[in-house]
Amino acid sequence: MKIYIINGPNLNILGKRQPDIYGNRSFDDYLSDLRNKYPEIEILYFQSNHAGEIVDKIQEISGKCDALIINPAAYTHSSLAIADAIASLSIPVAEVHISNIFSRENIRHQSLISKYVKGIISGFGLDGYELALKALINLLNFKEK
Ligand code: DQA
Repeated sequence: MKIYIINGPNLNILGKRQPDIYGNRSFDDYLSDLRNKYPEIEILYFQSNHAGEIVDKIQEISGKCDALIINPAAYTHSSLAIADAIASLSIPVAEVHISNIFSRENIRHQSLISKYVKGIISGFGLDGYELALKALINLLNFKEK
């Protein structure tokens, strides 16, 4: 099983960026634990600070992996292009946010991508990625039966 994680802008500086909101841990550190914990799953990772690169990656992975976990970060609230790219996928997609976007500024309450995803996890810190991974594995195993 191959699952892609795509992170949007400023998530490359996790651990240094507003630790009161996003925690003290870098994503690379978290990802290496996640890969060790789920050796049977091929967890592929892409991060970009540029919307067009994220759109390119979403198009590129189409048909090449079983599921996608995406945190488009600030683009969640602004990028119709990323939302359109997600809408074009036929694999299950989980939307993850480290913080609870609904308990923050009004502008963060709207997600342009939520309409096109299977489910959303928001507010559980980095654990959200593992929760999404587990949910997608269960979903894919259920579909296979
Ligand atoms: C975020 C929430 C967004 O509003 C913000 O712009 C981010 C990260 C989160 O993971 O909590 O960069 O997606």
